[in-house]
Amino acid sequence: MVSAISVSTLQRWEVSSMAIGLIHQHRLWWRRRWGAERRYTVGWVLAAFFVGVFLFAGSRIGDTAVGGPRGNPSSDQPLVDLTLVENAKTKGAVCLDGSAPGYHLQRGFGSGADNWLVHLEGGGWCHSVDSCSLRKFTPLGSSEHMERQVPFLGILSNISSQNPDFYNWNKVKVRYCDGASFSGDVESEDQNGTILYFRGQRIWEAIMAELLQKGLANAKQALLTGCSAGGLATFIHCDDFRALLPEETAVKCFADAGFFLNGKDISGKRFIESFYDKVVQLQEVGKRFPDCISRMKPSQCFFAEEIIKSIKTPFFILNAAYDSWQIQNILAPAVSDPQQSWLKCKLSIQNCDSKQMEILQGFRSDLLKSLSEFKQRSDGGMYMNSCFVHCQTIYNVTWHSSNSPRVNNKTIAEAVGDWFFGRKITKDIDCPYPCNPTCFNLKLAQPYRM
Ligand SMILES: *[C@@H]1O[C@H](CO)[C@@H](O)[C@H](O)[C@H]1NC(C)=O
Ligand SMILES: *[C@@H]1O[C@H](CO)[C@@H](O)[C@H](O)[C@H]1NC(C)=O
Ligand SMILES: *[C@@H]1O[C@H](CO)[C@@H](O)[C@H](O)[C@H]1NC(C)=O
Ligand SMILES: *[C@@H]1O[C@H](CO)[C@@H](O)[C@H](O)[C@H]1NC(C)=O
Repeated sequence: MVSAISVSTLQRWEVSSMAIGLIHQHRLWWRRRWGAERRYTVGWVLAAFFVGVFLFAGSRIGDTAVGGPRGNPSSDQPLVDLTLVENAKTKGAVCLDGSAPGYHLQRGFGSGADNWLVHLEGGGWCHSVDSCSLRKFTPLGSSEHMERQVPFLGILSNISSQNPDFYNWNKVKVRYCDGASFSGDVESEDQNGTILYFRGQRIWEAIMAELLQKGLANAKQALLTGCSAGGLATFIHCDDFRALLPEETAVKCFADAGFFLNGKDISGKRFIESFYDKVVQLQEVGKRFPDCISRMKPSQCFFAEEIIKSIKTPFFILNAAYDSWQIQNILAPAVSDPQQSWLKCKLSIQNCDSKQMEILQGFRSDLLKSLSEFKQRSDGGMYMNSCFVHCQTIYNVTWHSSNSPRVNNKTIAEAVGDWFFGRKITKDIDCPYPCNPTCFNLKLAQPYRM
């Protein structure tokens, strides 16, 4: 969801146009939803001038692009308050800047009163002292900058027609402010003279402890989910989540757009692996995977493909075959496309020429290949539509609506519900692009061209 690439990997004009686009669009977004709050805007403008803004530009761009067809993001969207976990600070469980972590909780009701859905927010990763420092001026690195209320849509919606199976559950959105999928843990906050806290693992533990107290400990059914970097965190923490709950609780995990492929890019380089390598080293994420790192490089252990092999809890993997974030940052990262011949194709799949399309089909095949073992698991669920999109659970237009994408005539919400409640075996693999007319394909041209 987030263009987590370093400044040096982008052409300068691209960076500035993205930054400007972001400021403009963030202000619009903010004004429409919550009214102008200058104090945050100032922070964003500042950060924009530090250029690394596009670190999370993708996330906002994604919001807007998906928001487009949703129409005016209006006042009828239910908003849910932020809760900060101030006492987490005593355990050193803090955001990159040292501020308290937080979450949004909406209580369940009726038959859902004892069921819990925990969603882990996404937002890319930071891989250097500089890129993590930039996040301190944003919601992705500091609760000082987090929105005090957020809309709960898609899988978080409390409207039964938009979220048929989970609408009345207790629902939590855990905010992401550590830059390493809730998995880093570095004791010292002094990173060569820069103060930065790498404490994602402690944030996970502190927030789970608080939720257990608030009723999660008595859950009858529980689902851990998340998208993008939060989807990866869902893989990483799935069995931990299971272990926190009583044996009689039905616990499952569901990752949206968290299956990042450890593949080669268009120039033959392993760009994503070297990027992950920096994240993992910087935040000492390898400690999370003691078994894996005895067998392979720590950076390889940070891929869902490896993590899933040891997960014992029932799992569902949702991924678009042409995941827009992965196409932009794994398949055709800017460093590997100095002529920018992929730029148009990266913004909208409809712009891809036949040669690029062939490469995208190869990406889809590689994705399917790396999922082939998981597909055999009897407790596993899978949904891979042939759409150009990233994160499909947190918008009602992609999760469950009359114009949502369908595979085998099922929306994502229906497929996930069928799997969670054991109504049907769910392994829905779409035919290759452009065969599915129900796809919601992102068109990212506008925000990038400001
Ligand atoms: C999405 O949900 C919002 C808020 O409930 C609603 O206003 C909007 O019409 C919905 N859009 C679709 C496509 O269902
Ligand atoms: C859904 O959430 C909104 C905002 O949190 C609240 O105003 C509304 O009453 C809720 N609807 C139901 C059916 O609980
Ligand atoms: C701190 O500096 C040393 C020596 O230049 C370097 O090896 C190390 O990676 C740096 N640490 C961080 C967190 O940047
Ligand atoms: C697809 O599902 C919808 C409702 O979920 C149903 O009305 C429709 O008849 C189904 N179409 C086919 C071809 O099965």
